[in-house]
Amino acid sequence: MDYLPIFLEVAGKRVIVDGGTTVAARRVERALNAGALVEVFDPDPGDEVRAFLGHERLTHHARVPDGADFQGCLVAYGASEEHDRDALLHRAAKAAGALVNVADEKQYCDFITPSVVERDPITIAISTGGAAPVIARILRARMEAMLPAAYGRLAKFLADFRGRIYEAVPNGRNRRRFWENLIEGPVGDAFLAGEEGLAQERLEAELQRGADVDLKRGEVWLVGAGPGDPDLLTFKALRMMQHADVVFYDRLVGDGIVDLLRRDAERIYVGKKPNEHTLTQREITDQMIERAKRGERVLRLKGGDPFIFGRGGEELEDVAAEGIPVEVVPGITAAAGCGAAAGIPLTHRDHAQSCVFITAHGAGGVIGHDWTRYARKGQTVVVYMGLNAIKTVMDAALAQGVDPEMPVAVIDNGTRLDQRVITGTLADIEARVVEADLPGPALIVIGHVVSLYGALGVKGAVADQYDMTLKAGSTL
Ligand SMILES: C[S@@+](CC[C@H](N)C(=O)[O-])C[C@H]1O[C@@H](n2cnc3c(N)ncnc32)[C@H](O)[C@@H]1O
Repeated sequence: MDYLPIFLEVAGKRVIVDGGTTVAARRVERALNAGALVEVFDPDPGDEVRAFLGHERLTHHARVPDGADFQGCLVAYGASEEHDRDALLHRAAKAAGALVNVADEKQYCDFITPSVVERDPITIAISTGGAAPVIARILRARMEAMLPAAYGRLAKFLADFRGRIYEAVPNGRNRRRFWENLIEGPVGDAFLAGEEGLAQERLEAELQRGADVDLKRGEVWLVGAGPGDPDLLTFKALRMMQHADVVFYDRLVGDGIVDLLRRDAERIYVGKKPNEHTLTQREITDQMIERAKRGERVLRLKGGDPFIFGRGGEELEDVAAEGIPVEVVPGITAAAGCGAAAGIPLTHRDHAQSCVFITAHGAGGVIGHDWTRYARKGQTVVVYMGLNAIKTVMDAALAQGVDPEMPVAVIDNGTRLDQRVITGTLADIEARVVEADLPGPALIVIGHVVSLYGALGVKGAVADQYDMTLKAGSTL
C-alpha cells in the first residue's frame, strides 16, 4: 500500500479549487458535501462549476489565486488543466502548508482522490494507489449496484442507539457480534424492507435481552472455499469469513482466499500435505471445540466442498457431540471447478451419462478399487488425491482390463493462475505426468469426455491443444 487511507475532517475549513473545469466541479461538489468553506478561483468557470455559485459556503474569485490566498487553507486542488498554472498553485499552496492535489499531475500531489461510493453517513473510498484508476471506477460502479441505498439511512437509525448498546453489551467482542446480528438479522431486514417501526420494536427487544446467552455461545462453521480461485467463493462463505473470530484453514485454501478473512480474525494454519501433518485431525477438532466453548465463532475453512473428501463429516461428529451449534456451507468441489476451468464437461449426452467421484487414498493408504465398475463406457471417473498414486491407479485399471486407449486428463492447480492440464491415455498418462513434474494438487479425469478438452473454446483450454497434448503429451 503506497498511500495512507484516511478521512479528513474539512467541515468549516478553507478548501481552494483552482479552475473552472469538470474536474474542478467534482472537487467543489465533494468539498461542499463534506462541509468545507470552498473558494473557487477562475476568471470564467464552466457551467458545471457555475451550478454551485449560489451555495452559501462557496466563494467565487474571477481570477487565478496568488500566494496570499492560500493562508489558512487546509486543502488546495489544482483543476485548471493548465500546466504552468498548476505549477504556480502547487508552489504557493505548499508554501502556505496546505495539502495539495493537482489533477493528472502526480508530482504535485500530496494525496490522491479515491473513487467514492456514498450512502451518507457511510462513505466507501476505493483507490488503486494511482496504478489503474479505471479499476477503482469499475469497482465503484459494482458497489453502487450492490449496496442498497437504505444502508445510509440504516446507519443513521442505528447511530441513535449506540450509547444504549454500549451499556447493554459491555464486552467489546460481544458488542461487535451484537451489532452484526442487528444489521444482518431481523432488525436490519425490517429496516431495509422499509418497516422502520418494526425494526425499532425488534431492536428494543434485542436491547432487553442485552448480552444474553446467544452471544456467549460459540459456533462452528464448516465452510467450503472452492478449488482455489477466490472468485469461486460463495457469498455465504465470504460473509462467514468476514465474521469469524478464529479460522482454521487448510493448505488447499489459497492465499488470495485467506486475504479475504476479517483482518483481526485469528488465523490458524492446519495444512496437511501427504505424510506431513501440522496438527492431527483430533488436535484440530479439539482446538475448534475449545474455542467454540469460549464463545468464539470458529470457522473451519476447507478447500473445495467440506463434505466431498474433506473429512468434514468426521470433524462435525465430534463437535456436535459437545452440543456446539454447527453450520455447513458448501463449496465448489475440485471436480466441478477443474472441469469448468479446463473445458472438460464431466457429463455429456454423447460421451458420459454418469460421473463418479472417487478417492485414490483412504485411511489405510491407496485404495484398491474395482475399476471395471468405474472406468467404463458412458461414465466419467474423477479421482481425487491420485497424483502421487497415479502409477498404482493406472496399473490397477489396466490389470483389470480397462481399455488402455481410454482418454485421461490430469488437471493440476485447477482454477488457479498456474493451472496445467496434461492429457493422454490410461496407458501413457503416468509417463507424461512424471515428465511434467506436477506439484499438485491435481485431479485425474478418466473417460471419453476428456476428448472434448480444447474443443469447446473455454478460455485457458486452447482449442488446438487437444490433439497436440494427446499425441505429444505437452502441457498447458
Ligand atoms: C483432501 S481432498 C479435498 C477435496 C475437496 N474437499 C474438494 O471438494 O475439492 C484434496 C484433493 O482434491 C483435489 N483438489 C483440490 N483442489 C484442487 C485443485 N485446485 N486442482 C486440482 N485438484 C484439486 C486433489 O485431488 C487433492 O489431492
